[in-house]
Amino acid sequence: MARKQRTPRWLEAARRRGAEDLQPSGKPDWLARALGKAGVMPRAQAEAAIREGRVTLDGRVEREPFAPVRAGVEVRVDGQMRSLDAPVWALMLHKPAGRVVHGSDAEGVGTVFEWLRERLTPALLGYEWLAVGRLDRDTTGLLLFTNDERLVRHGTSPERHLAKRYVAAVEGTPDEAALRRLREGLVLEDGPTRPAGARLRAPDVVELTLTEGRHHQVKRMLAAVGHPVRTLHREAVGGVTLDIPEGTWRRLEDDEVARGLGFAPG
Ligand code: URA
Repeated sequence: MARKQRTPRWLEAARRRGAEDLQPSGKPDWLARALGKAGVMPRAQAEAAIREGRVTLDGRVEREPFAPVRAGVEVRVDGQMRSLDAPVWALMLHKPAGRVVHGSDAEGVGTVFEWLRERLTPALLGYEWLAVGRLDRDTTGLLLFTNDERLVRHGTSPERHLAKRYVAAVEGTPDEAALRRLREGLVLEDGPTRPAGARLRAPDVVELTLTEGRHHQVKRMLAAVGHPVRTLHREAVGGVTLDIPEGTWRRLEDDEVARGLGFAPG
């Protein structure tokens, strides 16, 4: 059965207004998202402010959060001019166990997004923070956040094969045959895995480096070779290695984003 394609709301709004609202790059942005990306206010607050009539574009009140924004448009919030120029920010968080990396929190355990916001400096609270990929609720370690969805796509793209290094405490001691299966690739229910790095750090501790990021992939791979995961930690993404204590965050330097993650905006 053919899947029904849903037209994004920014595109519907752009079509209603005509193509001149698209940015010169051809990549439109919509108003609430642009405000969150530029650090004016996070997306949900921006949507509310727009609906309340507090935001103007070139002097006209705009009440549609999904209105496309043109490059160079004058934006005011509560009468104050705001720039939509957005630097690319990236943060490293040392995720503790227990928090979910979801916008919604069905289990009521708290999300990493809420957790991060409680710890950010005031200057960073205006941004909408997007997680670059996911970690399970019980997984600890390196989680990246950014204000720029291009970096999210870059970090999670299945084509890019950005390496992610995990350390798993497992049941039993994997032998060489098990490690070889992990390295060469094995077949999971959603298809074969790509070749991976796998070695023992201790009799029951496996270092596994993947260049893909499927749902529960580390746990499923180790279970498939007979060594279920007891605890899981991520210590590196690309050339960026976790170097801060659990429960803390820091900003990535531009060079870490460019060289460590191989990301060049534009
Ligand atoms: N693989 C998993 O199984 N869990 C994670 O959190 C990350 C990778």
